[in-house]
Amino acid sequence: MAFEVKLNKNIGEILSQPYPFDVVDQNKAKAVEKFGKDFLIDFGIGDPTDPTPELVRESCKKAVDLRKSAGYPASVGHNEFRETVCNYMKQRFNVSLESSEVVATYGAKNASFHLPLYFINAGQDEISLIPNPGYPPYSTGTLIAGGKPFYLNILQENNFEPDFSAIPAEAVKKAKILFLNSPHSPTGKVCSKEKLKEAVDFCVDNNIVLVSDECYSELYFEDAPQSVLEINGADECAIVLNSLSKRSMMTSYAVGFAASKNPDLLKPIDSITRKSAQGVATIIQDAAVSAWKDFEHTKKMRSIYKERLEVLLPALEGIGCKPVRPDATFFVWVQVPDSFTPLSFSEKLLLEFGINCVPGNLISKEFNGVTPGEKFVRFALVAPVEKTREAAKRLKEWK
Ligand SMILES: Cc1ncc(COP(=O)(O)O)c(C=O)c1O
Repeated sequence: MAFEVKLNKNIGEILSQPYPFDVVDQNKAKAVEKFGKDFLIDFGIGDPTDPTPELVRESCKKAVDLRKSAGYPASVGHNEFRETVCNYMKQRFNVSLESSEVVATYGAKNASFHLPLYFINAGQDEISLIPNPGYPPYSTGTLIAGGKPFYLNILQENNFEPDFSAIPAEAVKKAKILFLNSPHSPTGKVCSKEKLKEAVDFCVDNNIVLVSDECYSELYFEDAPQSVLEINGADECAIVLNSLSKRSMMTSYAVGFAASKNPDLLKPIDSITRKSAQGVATIIQDAAVSAWKDFEHTKKMRSIYKERLEVLLPALEGIGCKPVRPDATFFVWVQVPDSFTPLSFSEKLLLEFGINCVPGNLISKEFNGVTPGEKFVRFALVAPVEKTREAAKRLKEWK
């Protein structure tokens, strides 16, 4: 072929990285072949299997007719959407926002991926500080923007919180963005108020944009996590991302918001969103309004996740694992027994017991000679409680 495709060079590095779930999917296919699809109990991908609440589905259905001549959606969110987010932030976190401080997004994934493009100068050796393990779009977005990821290893010895004091001065100088993810996926840990304050002070002192991905803020087991916007100083430096994917089992709706009290931080999001996209579908925005107004379905989901957690934790302990009890999220970060690697453990679990989880080394990077997921696997509490009980029963046969 004579035609030579010349990709943006930043894409090359991204294309060369394997998709972490490819290995898991291959092993899953082997297990399905061995046991049949129905036997498999899947704690793999973090996608809720529980239905979207009826009130949300109903409002979406109604919106189809109500909005029959609505035209293009308001790209930054319609008034009711933005006001509802403000009310939710007030009710849940006691954070006061104006509608103009909120922009509708297609969820935290899309928003976190795009944010580096607004703050990083390509090819200038600029950095995003990224938790490791951490959500992949933070680094993919940084690479596309022509920046460099600098990883903050999230380790048990630091109670799974980022250690800002360990970042070399050189990296701090080059840093444009700090991605904070509390509650953290996959460790399930919530940053203490002191750590949030430390993050805010670090960002203010060093002129770094704090992107706080709070998409698991509602899936907690005991105490409700704080938003970074509750912290003194965050008004200057922080952009908060949140979404309904996990709070309201709305992954298929892909809707969330970005919020900031600093108009200079919000301006590029607001302006580029208006100039690049038609916005979240109006009927989805309507569904989102009904979801954010209701706190009951989330409360119910929390008790369901708790029930699953209390079945899974002792079962894993029973086979010699050391699960980290999560504060929040629907993930359990589990240290495998010494005689296993994450991969050998997950393969045994899958190919002998039909139980799927994700090896932690696949979702964390080696950085500064350390791979934080080296001894861990991740379970997502997305299997119904009966299936979780069945998994616990099967694990009694573990030898
Ligand atoms: C830390 C984190 N942020 C964002 C997302 C995705 O958010 P959304 O569905 O709102 O795009 C996930 C999904 O797994 C996640 O783990």
